[in-house]
Amino acid sequence: MSAASFIFSVSCRMKNLLLLICCSIATSLLYSQPSPHAGKRIAIIPEPVSLKQGSGSFLLPARLTIWASDEKASRSAIRLLQHKLSTAAGIRVEVAGGIAAANRPAAIKLALNASPDETIGQEGYRLSVTGSGISIAANQPAGLYYGVQSLLQLLPEQIESAQLIKDLQWEAPLVEIVDYPRFGWRGVLLDVARHFFTKEEVRDFIDDMTRYKYNLLHFHLSDDQGWRIEIKALPKLTETGAWNVKKQGYFGTFSKPLPNEPRNYGGFYTQEDIKELVAYAKERFVNIMPEIDVPGHSLAAIASYPELSCTPGANQYKVNSGENFMKWGPKLTALVDNTLCPANEKVYVFLDKVFSEIAALFPFDYIHVGGDECAKNFWEQSAEVRSLMQKEKLKNMEEVQAYFERRLQKIIAAKGKKFMGWDEILEGGLAPGAAVMSWRGVKGGIQAAKLGHEVVMTPSTHTYVDLMQGDPIIEPRVYASVLLKTSYQFDPVPAGVDARLIKGGQANLWTEQIYNTRHLQYMLWPRGLSIAESLWSPREKKSWDGFIDKVERHFKRFDIAEIKYSRAMYDPIFVSGKKTDNPFKIALETQIDGLDIYYSFDNSFPDHFYPRYAGPLIPPKDAVMLKVITYRGKTPVGRMIAMPIDELKKRLR
Ligand code: ACM
Repeated sequence: MSAASFIFSVSCRMKNLLLLICCSIATSLLYSQPSPHAGKRIAIIPEPVSLKQGSGSFLLPARLTIWASDEKASRSAIRLLQHKLSTAAGIRVEVAGGIAAANRPAAIKLALNASPDETIGQEGYRLSVTGSGISIAANQPAGLYYGVQSLLQLLPEQIESAQLIKDLQWEAPLVEIVDYPRFGWRGVLLDVARHFFTKEEVRDFIDDMTRYKYNLLHFHLSDDQGWRIEIKALPKLTETGAWNVKKQGYFGTFSKPLPNEPRNYGGFYTQEDIKELVAYAKERFVNIMPEIDVPGHSLAAIASYPELSCTPGANQYKVNSGENFMKWGPKLTALVDNTLCPANEKVYVFLDKVFSEIAALFPFDYIHVGGDECAKNFWEQSAEVRSLMQKEKLKNMEEVQAYFERRLQKIIAAKGKKFMGWDEILEGGLAPGAAVMSWRGVKGGIQAAKLGHEVVMTPSTHTYVDLMQGDPIIEPRVYASVLLKTSYQFDPVPAGVDARLIKGGQANLWTEQIYNTRHLQYMLWPRGLSIAESLWSPREKKSWDGFIDKVERHFKRFDIAEIKYSRAMYDPIFVSGKKTDNPFKIALETQIDGLDIYYSFDNSFPDHFYPRYAGPLIPPKDAVMLKVITYRGKTPVGRMIAMPIDELKKRLR
């Protein structure tokens, strides 16, 4: 190159550079704003792996282009963005795709990497918001989708509105995010057996899950209270098994239905419904894992086909409507036989038919077969079970269940699927290749992993979001509680376990006490946020105080999206003392720092002019009620709780 052409070339490059700088400055002037976000912390849940915030923000123009390197593969991400930006912000969105359109100015760029970015894996993404626009890059379409979910959380909370919001600056703070999940299995169990939820309600549920990057819907499709999926070879399962008598009150204590009470409460999904749901979920990168719960929890199946039990007295079986039929305790005793008979060949023919159709409907690798809480008292009395034990040399009822599980595992494998069950399936010995879902704490999961089985952790102590999230005196009553703070402590990998065998975890939403979707939402949020963070974010990125700060910001999003949630995290906790304490004292705590508790013993409603709790209280001699409420500064944040003193005395240890 001659000196002249070198100087010319440099000066051309300088000119281009200058042009680029000028353009960038112009675009920055157009879009980059002194930010109302400055000083406002970003609140992405689950917390990204790495997030660096710049100063300023990018202002979305009223008309914008989304450019996608591969428009077809990016359509879920594009559709979500388009829907939110046009509905809430009224932004006119155009989509341009492919290399040909790569040079068109686009405020939002979605790029699928041509060569894999090893850091971010299959579901990760890189999200960059600069003065001149937004770009999301990922290896796979799922990563783009999760990048968009994070981007939506960067935008003002009004983006959640189903109505147009006028006169708002739609801006995102300048940020560089690198993000990918800790676990590939990030599930929510939805029990549609105790109460049926329509296909439309399940779709909304999937949408809500994906906001927080959950990717698996564990669909609990059968139980004593209902069979919820059409099996064409076994029509009575849904003609009879899908219906019971509507009762309200406390599930498990209902009166026995009378013979003339209509059995018209319930419902089921046709196979067409299931195909629609599977496709809907897939577009949102959610797998659906079906669960058919056997050999216990099978009363709906037995009411449909009584010959499946060891005690087939025709007509004595009815789908349970919430009346008590089980004695709980160290040894489970069923008062009505709700178990499939392991010694009856018809049962295996039945299971083969059921799982043939299930396997064809659900593309997910795993089928969950339940296996939990199987009462053995009817098996113990069965001559067929006794002769099976002799023939197969089975020493006890746990080994009888293990025999049943082995036969079932072969059926599942013959359909090309992997076998998963609750941790009870470990009890009589478990065949290799079975995966275990640990619910009675983490000990079953630890034991299973030590034996080399794959494990999903769903300990009831931390992830059962059907349990109460505040004091029973104010919450809809269930048999136990999981506070938000406890759910945030969930870590799927206990010490000493081979982390490679822990596939992830789940929030489990059983619905004995949940009749409608508003209450489903109330139970899931915010605990669903804490479990999402435990499943996605690196352990060292979790911080309770930081999380609570974010949760409060997400409450605003829920309000705008009209999603119900619980504010129980603001309520005081009543800490019971010992029976021997003299005098009797009442201790209070809060889950969240920085709250004040005000109280009264005179039955009036306390506010911040009342005494502030500063240490254990000794109730006045004749007081019958303690009323408490929490405040942050001068603002009430908790609920008014009226606690009878006698109730607290009953709780003494
Ligand atoms: C269960 O909660 N019985 C799995």
